Amino acid sequence: MRPLFVPAGRDADNAYYFPVDIVRTPCNTGYISSNPRPHRRSWSKLTFLTMKIPYLERFGLVEEPYSTSPNPRYLYISPTHSLALEKTKWTIGAKKGLALCFGAVGTGKTTLARELAQRIEDDPTISYVFITNPSYPTPNQLLRSIIQEFEVPETSKNYLDLLNIFKNFLFDQSMNHGKTLVLIIDEAQTLKPPLLELLRQMMNYESNEQKFLQVVLFAQEEFRARLQHPRFRNLVNRAAMASTLDNLSPIESAAMLRHRWLVAGGKEFPFTAGALDKLYYHSRGIPRTQVILADNALLGAYLMGKPEVDAELIEQVVKDRGLPDTEPEPVRIVRRKTTDSKVTSARRQTNGR
Ligand SMILES: Nc1ncnc2c1ncn2[C@@H]1O[C@H](COP(=O)(O)OP(=O)(O)O)[C@@H](O)[C@H]1O
Ligand SMILES: [Mg+2]
Repeated sequence: MRPLFVPAGRDADNAYYFPVDIVRTPCNTGYISSNPRPHRRSWSKLTFLTMKIPYLERFGLVEEPYSTSPNPRYLYISPTHSLALEKTKWTIGAKKGLALCFGAVGTGKTTLARELAQRIEDDPTISYVFITNPSYPTPNQLLRSIIQEFEVPETSKNYLDLLNIFKNFLFDQSMNHGKTLVLIIDEAQTLKPPLLELLRQMMNYESNEQKFLQVVLFAQEEFRARLQHPRFRNLVNRAAMASTLDNLSPIESAAMLRHRWLVAGGKEFPFTAGALDKLYYHSRGIPRTQVILADNALLGAYLMGKPEVDAELIEQVVKDRGLPDTEPEPVRIVRRKTTDSKVTSARRQTNGR
């Protein structure tokens, strides 16, 4: 099998070159005009020159379909994404206090958090603050940041006074102005225990009918394990809803890639059934990995002049990437003890549903 990014040849400087056309951008026109061989580019220059996504035109795309930025427009709502969204929306709407959403890296937590923010954006009765990186060193700093983002008109240098100011603000907004105040925190697994304690404290502010602050935490799986500790029992007790984003199934993976293709303005979907199988196999259903591999494969197809992305190309991309995120599910060694001997068997864990 020919590796994807092995050069078609080397130029006079012994640099790699590819038989491709370079997209002209304002920053690269100088290079192009000074190059006497428009179809022979060195790889190092190519990466710099093609920042404008070379394959868009070839595949009739308006936008990049497989970017890793968490743009909610590209979100494919799988059953678990839908459930998580509904549970969080319900927690907020019913003013129940705390909603948790867990998921492995790359399963779409940040994208879903943005989707949630977008859905509540237009509701005039809701004010929200979205904290993307909550690793503040102290609760004081987190509180100050929340207060600033909610545009609380008062402040104080004293932490306890500040807490009181925020409590009065929440009460006033909820009871006198009928507002729902929402705090969305992404990467909640980075919250230190004193910050979690602050959140617990803020969720104590309530009337008989409602919590005054709705908190939605998006966190990696390790956070769930941390919450087992007895010191967080009071926080966990306040969780009205918890949900988990699963890896996508093979059918959902294909649907997600197709969905993103259509959102990006694509017409004929270039991934063959074999390619989709391989993408699932190597990504274990993790959308982030699928998106990265799909993007690499499109570039590969473009560079190699292939009209479609087939299974072989995905294998080449995976081999070329050579990173652990594309390794298939590890074979687990399961040791079973029988009456007189140890039997060792191997099985592959699959995520197929
Ligand atoms: N359900 C999905 N539909 C479409 N793209 C997704 C989905 N889930 C994740 N992605 C994509 O995978 C990448 C990583 O998603 P992200 O939300 O940052 O994951 P996480 O926050 O869980 O690590 C992004 O490009 C995102 O658009
Ligand atoms: Mg994230």
